[in-house]
Amino acid sequence: MERVAFITGASRGLGKAMAYAFAKKDYAIAVHYNTAKDDAEKVVNDIINLGGKALAVSASLSNFASISSAVNTVHQHFGQIDVLINNAGIKDDAPINELTLKTFQEVFDVNVTGAWCFMKEVSRIMMKQHRGRIINISSGVGTYGRQNQTNYAGSKGALNAITKSLSKELGPFNITVNAIAPGLIETDMTADVNSVHKEKYRQEIPLQRLGLPEDIANAALFLASDKASFISGQILHVNGGLR
Ligand SMILES: NC(=O)c1ccc[n+]([C@@H]2O[C@H](COP(=O)([O-])OP(=O)(O)OC[C@H]3O[C@@H](n4cnc5c(N)ncnc54)[C@H](OP(=O)(O)O)[C@@H]3O)[C@@H](O)[C@H]2O)c1
Repeated sequence: MERVAFITGASRGLGKAMAYAFAKKDYAIAVHYNTAKDDAEKVVNDIINLGGKALAVSASLSNFASISSAVNTVHQHFGQIDVLINNAGIKDDAPINELTLKTFQEVFDVNVTGAWCFMKEVSRIMMKQHRGRIINISSGVGTYGRQNQTNYAGSKGALNAITKSLSKELGPFNITVNAIAPGLIETDMTADVNSVHKEKYRQEIPLQRLGLPEDIANAALFLASDKASFISGQILHVNGGLR
């Protein structure tokens, strides 16, 4: 049976890499985006041109109704959802004396509440199917912390705790829930990190290179695969051995 992967934030960066990687393994892909419609449609067309199946679907992670509607659209279109990859996320860094309450809450709204809404809506479908894989894209800073990221690191720490809690609820339904915690990967999100810092960071990595979006996609493919059927509630750090 063909499997369906719903990947949030698949218009760019890590989500786009995961969309192509899963399509190459014969998953049908729901390509979620927020604003980048053209980019998402390009991902869909690329997959269809390679002989795969894909559908673009938009939702704002700050809006529960739009998330619910996107999940229903995908379920009606494909008839099942086997894998949810909660990848869409934002960061907006500042020291705590400059960080506003509004910015703190915006990051939590998207990275925690939005991801939770997706889990809530998709788990309803997966529980009826009695199978499913939920993979949350967290960050190493959710475990280790980072200066100027009380909002972002805090949101990823919350996502880790949600991952562990939900794995306990959904295990009896044959649903695994895990998180991947990437180190620094070159995407739009990290375009503001200067090259001197990136080089310093690279030198600290035992494997002596920065991560690639494909490294994250490979970890997600493993967690979605039958080979990972007894792995749940885990935070998989993909960072070249940094910590
Ligand atoms: N890159 C890294 O080094 C790194 C490291 C650790 C963890 N991560 C995590 O990995 C995930 C992907 O990061 P990335 O680097 O690929 O980011 P990115 O290139 O900035 O892409 C972000 C994606 O999230 C979507 N998005 C942003 N705000 C949204 C909102 N309010 N509602 C719905 N969708 C929204 C964007 O959609 P549109 O394009 O439509 O706006 C886009 O597809 C994030 O959760 C991030 O925290 C990244």
